[in-house]
Formats: sequence, structure tokens, C-alpha cells
Amino acid sequence: MDPSHEAFQTARNRKRVVVEVSNLSKTFGHDIRAVDDVSFAVYEGEIFGFLGPNGAGKTTTINMLTTQLHPSSGSARVAGYDVLKSPNVVRKLISVVPQNNTADEELTGRENARVIANLYGIPGGESSRMVEAALDLVELGDAADRFVRNYSGGMRRRLEIAIGLISRPKVLFLDEPTLGLDTQTREAVWEYVRALRDKHSTTVFLTTHLMEEADQICDRVAIIDHGKIVKTGSPEEIKSLVGSDVIELTLDVGSDTISEAIGQCVGSKVERTGSDYRVEVSNGEEAIPLIIELIRSQGPYVKRVSLSKPSLAEAYLELTGREFRDADQEAVQTARMINFFG
Ligand SMILES: Nc1ncnc2c1ncn2[C@@H]1O[C@H](COP(=O)(O)OP(=O)(O)O)[C@@H](O)[C@H]1O
Ligand SMILES: [Mg+2]
Repeated sequence: MDPSHEAFQTARNRKRVVVEVSNLSKTFGHDIRAVDDVSFAVYEGEIFGFLGPNGAGKTTTINMLTTQLHPSSGSARVAGYDVLKSPNVVRKLISVVPQNNTADEELTGRENARVIANLYGIPGGESSRMVEAALDLVELGDAADRFVRNYSGGMRRRLEIAIGLISRPKVLFLDEPTLGLDTQTREAVWEYVRALRDKHSTTVFLTTHLMEEADQICDRVAIIDHGKIVKTGSPEEIKSLVGSDVIELTLDVGSDTISEAIGQCVGSKVERTGSDYRVEVSNGEEAIPLIIELIRSQGPYVKRVSLSKPSLAEAYLELTGREFRDADQEAVQTARMINFFG
């Protein structure tokens, strides 16, 4: 077939679905609808994030997808197999890094990794190669012979991720991979997750209650609130739902003629206060050079230009009617009350 043929292009662009979830629900007791009729797909090689406040249903979803919890209704296929019909096959094809660390404190990092390689039945020579590659990816090679009890929080999380990688899973599930880490260590973990996707095309399903995390590392996110998905899309798509990019310019002159010319150039309305101009566009990065070239050609001098983009936090507010931090805080307070009374 001619490579420019439409059908050929469509086939090439068709991404393989690796996780397919249909109307999945989990109810605890009579009325706790922890996961409420969620449906979504994760494509091969992408980093897909479940973003939601505490108690939104993220861990419950991961537990069902990784065959640790039986759904109340609905279905899910992971790496090509139904989690209810073929749980054992699914388990062989995936890895899970749970919210809490699981490594043995009394072993070294490398020993922990070897134990897992043995559990997977990976043969000798290959096993050492995989252990070393996984430890290297998270830069734990030098610390591999130290006891885990002497590791920092960040090193422990990195070791957990390395352990998750040893079996070369088709899908790696990470439940709140950076929980409790400081900003710097968090950013390092993001880098390792990206490296995983770039070097091994591993499909990553992660959960997070951090807007910034979802925004920084996920190719696509599903925003989950009270067990329901309120929106799925790339961070860019979700942010563009709630507003446009805003360009602000200060020129050496204030002129209605310039205002109108800018408006015509980018196809939107310009607000002017003195020599300050404000214009909303869908793509700020593309519009700025056009605007600057136009202004220069007309004579004025650009003294200052800024671009602001809508944030995922604003999108969350628009989609759920609540501030993300408030939602997270509410959940923490409820949990404290439950602990107090329970
Ligand atoms: N085993 C359980 N029994 C009863 N309620 C549970 C259980 N596990 C989770 N829940 C409840 O289900 C909801 C979702 O929890 P979870 O999936 O852990 O949320 P997240 O991981 O997003 O913080 C919460 O209200 C939580 O209290
Ligand atoms: Mg959780």
C-alpha cells in the first residue's frame, strides 16, 4: 500500500492498548463506592497517571488491575489478559511498586534485587545483568552493597522502582511513587520514570495526588474524584479546557492601531491599558514571535513580554468545583477523624 494512503497512516497511528478498563467498580461494605464505574485505556509505551486527592480510589483501582482485589463489577484487561479470567498470566507480565516500601531492611539493595530475580526464575547470567541494569537505571549501583536500613527515603523508593523493573514488565504500576520525598528527590524519581519509558518503552501506570507530578511526567492523565473519572486527556488538553494562554506585552507606546494589528495577527481581542497589552491565544509559544515581528515592522519597541499558561490546578477546580488542596485536606481530616473514632 502507498505509505501516504490514509488507511496506512491510520494503521500506523493506531496505538496498542495495553490496559483496557470497562465500567470497573469496587464497593466496600454497603455504601463505600471506592471506585465507581470507571473506564479508560492506557496505550503501549505511555506514562499514564491517575490523579486525585486522598481517598479518590487510586489504590483500589491499582489493586484491581494488579489482581490483588476482586472488582465488584466491570472488567479489565492488562497486557492482553483479563484480570479475572487469567490473573496468573497477568501477574507474570506486570510489576507493582506499592505505596509502602517492601524491601527487606536487613538485606543490601543488591540482595533484595537478586531475591526478586530468583522469584521470577530468571536464569543466573541473565539475572545478574537485569539486576545491575535495574540498579544502574535508578543510580543505585554504588550503594547496592549497603543495607537497606541505612538507605534514605529517596534511595528506598528508587530501590523499589528498580525491583519493579527486574522482570522487564510490560506494565509497571507505581502507587504514589514520590510520596513523602522532598522536591529534589521527587524530580530524580520523575527522571527515572521517564528514562524507563524512553529506554525500554515500558508502559507506566502511576497514581499521584500531586498536580505537578501529573503535569511533569504523564503523557496522559485521568482525573479521579470520589471514585469517578471526571476527565481523561494529556495535561495540555486538560489545561486547554479551562482557558487560554495569556500574553502580556509592554511597548514604548500605547496605540489603538497597534492593538488592532495584534488582534488581527493572532485572531483574538486585545485589551490595552496605556502601553500594556493583554491578549488571550490558544498557543502562546507560536503567537509570541508573530506578534513581536508585527510590532517591530510597525516601528514600536517591545520593552517586556510574558506568557502565562493555565495550570492543572485551575483545571481541577473547574472540573470538580473544588480546590485540589481543599479536597486533599478534607480527605486527610476525614481519615484523621476515622482514626480517632475507630
Ligand atoms: N479495605 C477497605 N475497606 C473499606 N474502605 C476502604 C478499603 N480500602 C479503601 N477504602 C475506602 O475507599 C476509598 C478509596 O480509597 P483508596 O483507593 O485507598 O484511595 P486513594 O488511593 O486514592 O487515596 C476511601 O474512602 C477509603 O477509605
Ligand atoms: Mg492510595
